[in-house]
Amino acid sequence: MKAVVFDLDGVITDTAKYHFRAWKHLAESIGIHIDEAFNEHLKGIGRMDSLERILKFGGRAPDFSEEEKSRLAEQKNEDYRRLIAAMTPNDILPGIQDFLEELRNAGIKIGLASASKNGPFILKSLQISSYFDTIVDPAKLKKGKPDPEIFSTAAVQLGAEPRECAGIEDAVAGIQSINAAGLFSVGVGVPEDARPDWRVASTLELTWDSLRKHWIEKG
Ligand code: G6P
Ligand code: MG
Repeated sequence: MKAVVFDLDGVITDTAKYHFRAWKHLAESIGIHIDEAFNEHLKGIGRMDSLERILKFGGRAPDFSEEEKSRLAEQKNEDYRRLIAAMTPNDILPGIQDFLEELRNAGIKIGLASASKNGPFILKSLQISSYFDTIVDPAKLKKGKPDPEIFSTAAVQLGAEPRECAGIEDAVAGIQSINAAGLFSVGVGVPEDARPDWRVASTLELTWDSLRKHWIEKG
């Protein structure tokens, strides 16, 4: 294995609760009520697509122009940025920093494949930017997860073949993207039917030794 590509939200840090709070606030301002179960379907999904899903869910998709939708998404992001402004290295999920350290010591390249345009800002707040050899810019992609484009692009940027890489995800759409791109897929707390190559219940289980072992077993 030559490279490991990380999703951000839900793998490196738990921002899902902040995304949820900001979307809920925004949705309520236009009379739509969303709960945590609905939020599951927003994981890994880009900002505008998430907004579209919320509007559709509330039956309000036809009510807003493109310009108004951009404004709504911008409003959500401002709210979200306020919530994540206070993030520190204490917000890194358990075991992740040690895992990054092990990968670096083993000479494994490290990439970020997040749909979030706030990715670089969050890595900086968590003080782990220096571990990353590359970050895929989601603004340059044609299609979001579950399309394979983001993980395929990460492999290209890291100079590795997809089969020489692992991708780590907490979202069903993310596992689908990794599998379609042909990387070894690791699912953190994903349902069995998401079909990851290796499923872990918590980020604490992620170590270079066990990742390599599972990757070799798959053949
Ligand atoms: C990640 C999260 C999604 C979020 C997306 C875009 O994939 O799991 O919930 O909508 O990033 O994030 P952004 O920070 O650009 O709004
Ligand atoms: Mg995620």
